[in-house]
Amino acid sequence: MNKILFLITLCFCNQLSANDLLGLPPVPVPDDNPQTTEKIELGQLLFNDQRLSGDGTINCASCHQPDKAFTDGLPVARGIRKQEGTRNSPTVVNSAFYSSFFHDGRAGSLEEQALGPFLNPIEHGLENENKIIDLVKQDANYVEKFKQAFGISKAGIQIGHIAKAIASYERTIINGNSLFDQYFYARNRSVLSESTARGSRIFRRKGNCSNCHEMNWKNALFTDHNFYNIGVGFGKIEPVLDKVLSKLRKGVHPDELNLTDVQRSELGRFSVTKVIADIGKFKTPGLRNIALTGPYMHDGSLETLEEVIEYYDKGGDDNRFKDSAIFPLKLTEQEKKDLVAFLRSLTSSVYLKADVTSSGLDNN
Ligand code: HEC
Ligand code: HEC
Repeated sequence: MNKILFLITLCFCNQLSANDLLGLPPVPVPDDNPQTTEKIELGQLLFNDQRLSGDGTINCASCHQPDKAFTDGLPVARGIRKQEGTRNSPTVVNSAFYSSFFHDGRAGSLEEQALGPFLNPIEHGLENENKIIDLVKQDANYVEKFKQAFGISKAGIQIGHIAKAIASYERTIINGNSLFDQYFYARNRSVLSESTARGSRIFRRKGNCSNCHEMNWKNALFTDHNFYNIGVGFGKIEPVLDKVLSKLRKGVHPDELNLTDVQRSELGRFSVTKVIADIGKFKTPGLRNIALTGPYMHDGSLETLEEVIEYYDKGGDDNRFKDSAIFPLKLTEQEKKDLVAFLRSLTSSVYLKADVTSSGLDNN
């Protein structure tokens, strides 16, 4: 994991402008997978290719749709043959900044993450890695693109190249520059309403939100990259926890079970670490574009941002593993509205309509 991180370089700036990055730190790029235009383009092709699935209907963009800020609008994901999983599709926007991937953090890099969905029986549903490589090799266009991106012949195409290309593309899916960033980081005080500005303070103070959805004076990813049990969905397994834990000891490939077995899914971080204190913990998600990425939480159980705020205000659903930072907030009705307004101000300018952006905001 301790790869040397390179900062974004100039040749990469045709993909991302300084404005896109307002409010964000530099994009980390691992030294064994530098960004190149050829790789990024190849990754984008792979991300959008339905042929790379068991029934030819699913691509990464089926669940990570660009016009829904790279989510799917469903409570839980739906893969090949319309099979439902157990978890909500998170956005891939800004996932380049994460140190672990999936709601339970079971992948350590974008490269590692990228191969999971191809083989998961209820996502792309391909039998094995060779199947992916065979599909790619059948297409002369791909063979040429792999040559340009990696300098390899057809025989040299390996699964790691596919992972690297997809990860490189994902490192260009970066959104900063929301109204909040304009206000907080570019110090343009006129862009937020009073309610939204109050919401940003409640987020950091009375609401205790930034305790986990971290931000600082230089930038905000709205995550601390940590895992917490905030109570969501845990009621489904608390009464049968012992039974669920003993089933886990039988040891079947975790990726498959986390997405096919609802009870197993609810164990969260525990199924990765096997540490009792991690039962029911999930990764703190970033909150950028949050107005566009509902339903919310790992199980998609909260439909609106208003419901999310009500959930936190009551101190979450109690269980014996719940984190002590989740407690009743006693927010007033106005404070709840302010918090929702703040969350809505985290939408990146790339998603804002012309009438909003023309009021003094640069949309590029
Ligand atoms: C059937 C829907 C579906 C498809 C297809 C799919 N994903 Fe996902 N994606 C999900 C779900 C659900 C999760 C969360 C799974 C979990 O936490 O166990 C996820 C998680 C991720 C994450 C981690 C985000 C985070 O915040 O940790 C990335 C990155 C990602 N997917 C990229 C991809 C790529 C690349 C592909 C194509 C190779 C792909 N996905 C295909 C539904 C899908
Ligand atoms: C103790 C850490 C912690 C605190 C405090 C906290 N959150 Fe969260 N938040 C999380 C975690 C962990 C999740 C994911 C839970 C899950 O998926 O079940 C989450 C999920 C969310 C989501 C849904 C994100 C999505 O993409 O589905 C929103 C919105 C949110 N939090 C906003 C807030 C707000 C607003 C506050 C303050 C009132 C707050 N959070 C306080 C840790 C925290």
